[in-house]
Amino acid sequence: MVYLGSAFRLCALSLSLMLVFVTYSVRAEPSDFPTYSADGSLRAPREFEQWIFVGSNLGLSYNESVATVTPRELKRAETPRFHNVYINRSSYDSFIKNKGFPNGTTLVMEVFEASDRDAKGLLGAGTFNGPHVGLEVAVKNSMRPDGSMTLWAYYDFTDPTNPAKTLNTAKAFPDAACEDCHHLHGQVDNVWVQFYPVLRSPE
Ligand code: HEC
Repeated sequence: MVYLGSAFRLCALSLSLMLVFVTYSVRAEPSDFPTYSADGSLRAPREFEQWIFVGSNLGLSYNESVATVTPRELKRAETPRFHNVYINRSSYDSFIKNKGFPNGTTLVMEVFEASDRDAKGLLGAGTFNGPHVGLEVAVKNSMRPDGSMTLWAYYDFTDPTNPAKTLNTAKAFPDAACEDCHHLHGQVDNVWVQFYPVLRSPE
């Protein structure tokens, strides 16, 4: 009886230890990691404005001879826009420490029209972030819930009926639409570090 009692207690103890371990490992995933809906779509990242802002560019467009350029990306040249890019904080910390992007890395690109007129007519020159017209996201994940084995996935959350709005979820594009170009020309592991002063090494 005594023996059974202590075996039971030992069992209960290891069970609670396991529970603590499981809870800890679940909690150990940083809160800025990507989350997905049941069908494997990515949920729109929240509060990314509080992440690390890595850089901004205006009106970048491609050389038509770049093999991986798509008709969608060529259209960029028609209307120069601001791209403001953020990275999730935990992956930024890891990148600075280890010089590589860990699983869970999420980069958000907010797109703004380039405006040069303000409502009060105060501006004489220059261009600022005008209306919000898009939100695209890149995620590194070796266990993608949509079943693809490609490490990096690319998503567009821009609402096609109203570009000022952001969709709640988005499915990843096929690799040929986005990943191929990023993979071939992004400076570090699919990311355009060459254009982001906060990530690139000092010259
Ligand atoms: C022909 C090359 C090319 C293709 C194709 C392409 N991109 Fe990009 N992408 C770029 C370049 C260059 C940048 C960096 C500068 C910028 O545009 O802000 C970039 C940056 C990004 C970023 C910011 C983070 C990062 O990885 O540097 C996201 C998010 C993104 N693209 C999403 C997409 C999506 C979604 C698609 C497919 C629908 C796509 N891209 C297709 C060239 C490409």
